[in-house]
Amino acid sequence: MLQIKNLVVQIEDKRILNGLDLTVNNGEVAAIMGPNGSGKSTLSYVIAGKADYEVLDGEILLDGENILEMGPDERAAAGLFLAFQYPLEIPGVASMTFLKAALNAQRKARGETELTTPDFIKRVNAAAAKLEVPKDMLRRGLNVGFSGGEKKRMEILQMALLEPRFCILDETDSGLDIDALRIVSEGVNSLRSPDRSFLVITHYQRLLNYIVPDTVHVMSAGRIVKTGGKELAIELEATGYADYRQTEAA
Ligand SMILES: Nc1ncnc2c1ncn2[C@@H]1O[C@H](COP(=O)(O)OP(=O)(O)O)[C@@H](O)[C@H]1O
Ligand SMILES: [Mg+2]
Repeated sequence: MLQIKNLVVQIEDKRILNGLDLTVNNGEVAAIMGPNGSGKSTLSYVIAGKADYEVLDGEILLDGENILEMGPDERAAAGLFLAFQYPLEIPGVASMTFLKAALNAQRKARGETELTTPDFIKRVNAAAAKLEVPKDMLRRGLNVGFSGGEKKRMEILQMALLEPRFCILDETDSGLDIDALRIVSEGVNSLRSPDRSFLVITHYQRLLNYIVPDTVHVMSAGRIVKTGGKELAIELEATGYADYRQTEAA
């Protein structure tokens, strides 16, 4: 599904990613853990195609296709989804309207027909019911005045509607209370499927008690320095990142 080879990225002449290699297979939930400043968020932004990052070397293949040659919209149409740490607020645009526009823009980019309003409403109602999103939330301005938990519900709803093949969740556990953690993890778990993969980026092991990963990768100084199974996350919770910081200094 996703293959990253020797990725080297800088921003404002500062190297952030230093030859990063990572493979995520079909249906896999991969977790990336690592100390603050190791480049986790940079990796998610570079995959999603955010401007400002200079890719000096390497490639990112989604099902064999180099996505570095695509714009952010094309990447989204190809099935990439990035859940933002700080979701966008759009006053005056009802969440429902935003979701319809997002879904139809993506269908258009794929050469599919746009959904009619009744078809869209059917889909959104089904997804909202499954994810316990109250209907009045969909009529309010996008994320405006939403609580942390409501923003997360909206994000998961967006994910469910867009049916991405590859989802990236970056630090979604930061500042989340236990209810919001539950919403995110139940949402992700209900969307797990053999042809959808997830990259869950987190500083803490806590989230991984709810979203149990297939693989865990430790990132340090812009590279993946260790890969293992879910037990690696538990081990890290006990030992911290000190061992990996020493590797950096060496
Ligand atoms: N826009 C930027 N300009 C300059 N430095 C940046 C920028 N974004 C991130 N960095 C630096 O890149 C490093 C990695 O940051 P980040 O990817 O946010 O790490 P993490 O998510 O693992 O905490 C940090 O040292 C950070 O200061
Ligand atoms: Mg980060």
